[in-house]
Amino acid sequence: MPYTTPEDPRWDALLEAAWRARDNAYAPYSHFQVGAALLMKDGSIQAGCNVENASFGGTICAERNTICAATARGMHPGELMALVIVTEAETLTAPCGLCRQVIAEFAEELPILLANRRERSLHHISQLLPNAFTGRDFLDPA
Ligand code: THU
Repeated sequence: MPYTTPEDPRWDALLEAAWRARDNAYAPYSHFQVGAALLMKDGSIQAGCNVENASFGGTICAERNTICAATARGMHPGELMALVIVTEAETLTAPCGLCRQVIAEFAEELPILLANRRERSLHHISQLLPNAFTGRDFLDPA
């Protein structure tokens, strides 16, 4: 089974794409550049970065930007296979709460690799957002 360890070489293409996207992050306010890359079921990779706004609430995180771009390319829930998040922060950057919720919309089980220039750590969405609220919570017939 792929992507079960942080050292799996299959992460490399995703890491490269995430670092490349991070270079394009628009972060003039926080100067905190984030890159993300996700692997879709068809084997293609979608990368993204954070895009800030002078009206701070308009800021979009790298993870949500990436998922939105993948959706525009035709990705559906269940088709997200792996996600990488990179920053140059000393401490590995985990997705914010809002991004965790958006990730959970598309994947019940998803390996998420957090990385900076010197370390990596493997997590799963079910561990980062246990007992997630999903469409099932209100779409299920009573
Ligand atoms: N940010 C992300 O892009 N992803 C995260 O997981 C955490 C935060 C961005 C949003 C904002 O542009 C900057 O990092 C500081 O919060």
